[in-house]
Amino acid sequence: MIKAGIIGLGIGKKHLDAIENYRNSKVVCALEKDRKKIISLKKKYKHIDFYNDEKSFFSRNDVNLISIASYDEFHYSQILKSIKKKWHIIVEKPICLSPAELKKIYYLVKKNKIKITTNLVLRQNNLFLNLKKKINKKEIYYIEADYLWGRKEKLFNWRSKTKNYSLTLGATIHILDLVCWFLNSMPTKVYAKSSSKITKKTKFRKFSFSHYLFTFPKDIMVKLTANAVCTHPHFHTLKIFEKNKTLISDIFGQYLINKKNYKNKFNLKKMKYDYPDKKNRKKIIRDFIDSILDKKIIMPSFKSNIDVMTACFYADMSMKKNKELSIKYLK
Ligand SMILES: NC(=O)c1ccc[n+]([C@@H]2O[C@H](COP(=O)([O-])OP(=O)(O)OC[C@H]3O[C@@H](n4cnc5c(N)ncnc54)[C@H](O)[C@@H]3O)[C@@H](O)[C@H]2O)c1
Repeated sequence: MIKAGIIGLGIGKKHLDAIENYRNSKVVCALEKDRKKIISLKKKYKHIDFYNDEKSFFSRNDVNLISIASYDEFHYSQILKSIKKKWHIIVEKPICLSPAELKKIYYLVKKNKIKITTNLVLRQNNLFLNLKKKINKKEIYYIEADYLWGRKEKLFNWRSKTKNYSLTLGATIHILDLVCWFLNSMPTKVYAKSSSKITKKTKFRKFSFSHYLFTFPKDIMVKLTANAVCTHPHFHTLKIFEKNKTLISDIFGQYLINKKNYKNKFNLKKMKYDYPDKKNRKKIIRDFIDSILDKKIIMPSFKSNIDVMTACFYADMSMKKNKELSIKYLK
């Protein structure tokens, strides 16, 4: 039976709802910094023990799954504490904030044989699941994807205070993971540039727009942008170019363009999928529970989570060095 603890009840509240009662799972405790939040949560979740201090939370001996949804800068130390307790781990993205931290987590997880996953939700989205079925990855030569965040105000909360906060680790990671999943491969090179033009005079001191050119095996080029400052609905746009067809998904709809219809823009084949498909967001967490309970369930491997983090770190390094870098993955 799964007995879970949750850290941080912002998006962590969604983790709670995904875990609670799924295949008899119970959330037994939660750690939350904000005392006011605890008071209101206690009214709704009477059976959960709420903690305000980390030491008491980590002294629980009845937990076997932890869901870490604290601010980015706490993920690393909370992962290490959870590994020590041999708890299985769901950690919000990003797993951590430096390559050295990533390396340590990777080797400790391997050594301790616990299960761990991160919440890269786009793979469970109805639209992207269906696009994946339509693509012929052998024919792809170019993919373009934009993470249009449309939530500029969120830059001025904890994200402004987090020393190593990175838009690449906070936003780009989602669309990069999606593209790697489509192509079933990892990029070999990256060149990235960033800008803080729109946020220069604000308290957000990091870059708020960035673009990336990734090279994938077999000469596939991928251009991504992370746009935290746009006046645009929160959206992930995508264009997938194959030799004989193009798939497009933007706020105006999803289209399949092929040799028969491409000369007449009024004749394009419109597709209709659920997006943002919020009902599927619990799926990664529930699949993870399945994988703990019955080992047969196939999840994205933790190595694929580690590799996408590595590619993001190289992208940020490329911005700093202003040059294209070859990406070396952990072994
Ligand atoms: N997978 C996704 O699509 C997705 C979406 C949003 C946020 N996130 C990630 O989730 C994490 C939380 O972001 P959020 O949007 O929920 O923020 P939030 O501010 O809405 O909520 C975070 C909550 O966690 C609490 N908290 C933070 N650090 C804590 C700590 N060390 N101990 C105890 N409580 C702590 C805060 O008091 C707050 O109540 C971040 O890492 C973020 O990158 C992921």
